[in-house]
Order: sequence, then C-alpha cells, then structure tokens
Amino acid sequence: MSPAPGRTAVVAGATSAAGIALTRRLIGDGLTVVAVGSDSARLAAAFTGLDGVVRQECDLTDEVAVGGLADRVLADHGGADALFHLVGGWRGGRGITTQTTADYDVLHRSVFLTLFNTSRAFYDQLADGAGRLAAVTATAVAAPTAANASYAAVKASVDAWLQAVAQGFAKDGSEAAATAVVVKALVDDAMRQQQPERSFPGFTHVDDLARILASLPGAPAGEVNGARIDAVRA
Ligand SMILES: NC(=O)c1ccc[n+]([C@@H]2O[C@H](COP(=O)([O-])OP(=O)(O)OC[C@H]3O[C@@H](n4cnc5c(N)ncnc54)[C@H](OP(=O)(O)O)[C@@H]3O)[C@@H](O)[C@H]2O)c1
Repeated sequence: MSPAPGRTAVVAGATSAAGIALTRRLIGDGLTVVAVGSDSARLAAAFTGLDGVVRQECDLTDEVAVGGLADRVLADHGGADALFHLVGGWRGGRGITTQTTADYDVLHRSVFLTLFNTSRAFYDQLADGAGRLAAVTATAVAAPTAANASYAAVKASVDAWLQAVAQGFAKDGSEAAATAVVVKALVDDAMRQQQPERSFPGFTHVDDLARILASLPGAPAGEVNGARIDAVRA
C-alpha cells in the first residue's frame, strides 16, 4: 500500500476512556489515528464506524510485535507523526513489605515495558519527522507513599525514560519532542454518572488530558521536549 497523505498519530492503549477521548480529538484535528490495543474485540467496540481510525491489535509488551507494528505504520502511512502512550495499570499494598514481586512485575510490563518497546520502535520515525512522543505519568512520582511504592517507582522510570528520549532527540539534532503529562487520577463522564456524590478532587477529565496531548504536535519542540506538563489542574 502506498503511504497515505496527512499526519498520523499512534495511540498506544487506545480502548480506555482516555484513549477514546484522545482518538476522537485527534481525528477532529484532521489526523489519521492508528488505535492500538491488545484485544481486537475491544478495539472494534470502541472504534467501529469512526472514520480516520485504523485499528491495530498488538501486545505492546512483545518487542517483535511492536517492531512489526512500526513497520506497518511506516509502510501504510509513511511513518508516525506522534506516538501517544496511554497503557497504564495500578497495583498497591499497605506498606513497603506488602509490595509484591508479582505486582511489581505486572506494573513494569504494563506501564514501562510497553513504553520502552513503542518508543524504541518508533524513535526513528518520530526523529525524522519532527514527531511527538508523550506518555502520562503520575503525581505519585514526586510524592510517593509506602502503600504506592511499586507504582511510584515504575512511573518514575517512565519519567526518566522520557527525559532520556528527549535528550536523544536533541542530541540527534531532531525537531522531535518527548513530553510527560502528569496526572493524579483520571475521571470520565461515566464515572461521574455512577458516583454523582463524589467530587473527584484533583482528578483530570479525560477530555482535558486529550486536549493537552493533542496540542503537542502544534507546540514548538523547544517548549515541549523534556517538559513535564501538569494536568492536575487542567
Ligand atoms: N486512570 C487513572 O486514574 C490514572 C492515574 C494516573 C496515571 N494514569 C495514566 O494515564 C494513562 C491512561 O490511563 P488509563 O487508566 O486510561 O490506562 P489503562 O486503562 O490502564 O490502559 C489503557 C489501555 O491500554 C491497553 N493495554 C493494556 N495492556 C496492553 C498491551 N499489553 N498491549 C496493548 N494495549 C494494552 C488497554 O486496552 P486493551 O485491554 O483493550 O488492550 C487499556 O484500555 C496511563 O499511562 C496511566 O498510567 C492513569
């Protein structure tokens, strides 16, 4: 297939409320969105009938599969202009001694390994095309608790990795940018309807997160490369 004209964004972890909000926002901005998830049925349920969305089932913890995904995006779209990483997950305990290896491993694979794989596989496409990489990190990094220790440590590795990618883009003389967006927690309309008595203090609405992420392709690289954008009060 010959490369399609126009800009293309990859949303890695697209089937959550945050992924759906971002995908709709990007389509509204005129981008083609490659929506990636681990389950084709959930992708179909989220995006069937939405023009401008290309669904791609891929286990983002699988390095080889992610390489294949990047090859398909290059062949079909001429490369990714943006990679938005939204794969999350949470595990906690009551204190340091109740943090388990099993929980840490789940968090590492879901939160970090998926970013590690996707950002390496798409690095050259983003660097060559003044692209944007963004991932969502957490206020827990700056204010970790004993109960939240494994989660905070893994999210800290996301922050460090994004800083390293940002340094790589700058060192390579690229106009690409890597950016962290910091939230405490996310909320969507369904959550608010289910719990109308809750105020969700400090939560970021998925539409506000989508707006911040979607603004990155239009922002100068010098302003957003290596930045940590606070979305708590978005
Ligand atoms: N939710 C919060 O309150 C909160 C708080 C702080 C930070 N954040 C961060 O905000 C971002 C978005 O949060 P979220 O709650 O929307 O994320 P999420 O639901 O945990 O993950 C987003 C999507 O990733 C997909 N996914 C999971 N494992 C995958 C894999 N191996 N390969 C491909 N896709 C996979 C899932 O879809 P499928 O199962 O369909 O594949 C899921 O819908 C994450 O970075 C999260 O850490 C969220």
